[in-house]
Amino acid sequence: MSESNTVERRVTLASPEETHRLGVRLGELLEPGDFVGLIGDLGAGKTHLVRGVAEGARVPRSEVASPTFAIVYPYSGRIPLYHADLYRLTGYDDLYATGFMDLVGGEGAVLVEWLDRVPEAAPREHLRLTLAHAGEDSRTLEAQAFGARASTLLTAWLP
Ligand SMILES: Nc1ncnc2c1ncn2[C@@H]1O[C@H](COP(=O)(O)OP(=O)(O)O)[C@@H](O)[C@H]1O
Ligand SMILES: [Mg+2]
Repeated sequence: MSESNTVERRVTLASPEETHRLGVRLGELLEPGDFVGLIGDLGAGKTHLVRGVAEGARVPRSEVASPTFAIVYPYSGRIPLYHADLYRLTGYDDLYATGFMDLVGGEGAVLVEWLDRVPEAAPREHLRLTLAHAGEDSRTLEAQAFGARASTLLTAWLP
C-alpha cells in the first residue's frame, strides 16, 4: 500500500484531551479541497477528533453534531467543513445518490468517518487517519498522506 512519496506518522493519544488538541491543530491547517478519511472501530475517537478539527477551523461549537442520522453535516468556520459518516452506507452508489461527491475537492474541506465502508469516496490525494483502541483512555493514530498536498499537511500537523 505504501508508495515512495507517501508520508506516514504513528502517534499515541494518551487521553481524549490529547486527541482533541491534535484535532484543533489539524483544523488550523486545513484548506479548501482537503480530504481527510477516518477509519476505526466504534469508540475509537473519530468523532472526538473531528470535534477538535472543527474547533481549530473556528466552527461555532453549537454547530458540531455527531453525524449519526445524516450522511453529511456542513459546518461553517474559517472555511466550510463537511463532516460525513458512511457507517450506514452499503456502497458507492448509495453515496453518489447523496450528492456527497460534489463536495469533494470543492470550496471546503471534507472529513469522512468510516471511509473504509466506501473507499472509492476518497480522491487520489487525501489524508487517511486510522484510530485504534490502545486502552481505556488511550488510542493509536496512524496517518498516511497520499499526494503532495496531503504530505505537506501531514508534515505540518505531525512534524
Ligand atoms: N485518547 C482518546 N482519544 C479519543 N477518544 C477517547 C480517548 N480515550 C477515551 N476516549 C473516549 O472514546 C470515545 C470516542 O468516541 P467517538 O469519538 O464518538 O468514537 P467514533 O466516532 O470513532 O465511534 C469518547 O467517549 C472519548 O471520550
Ligand atoms: Mg463517530
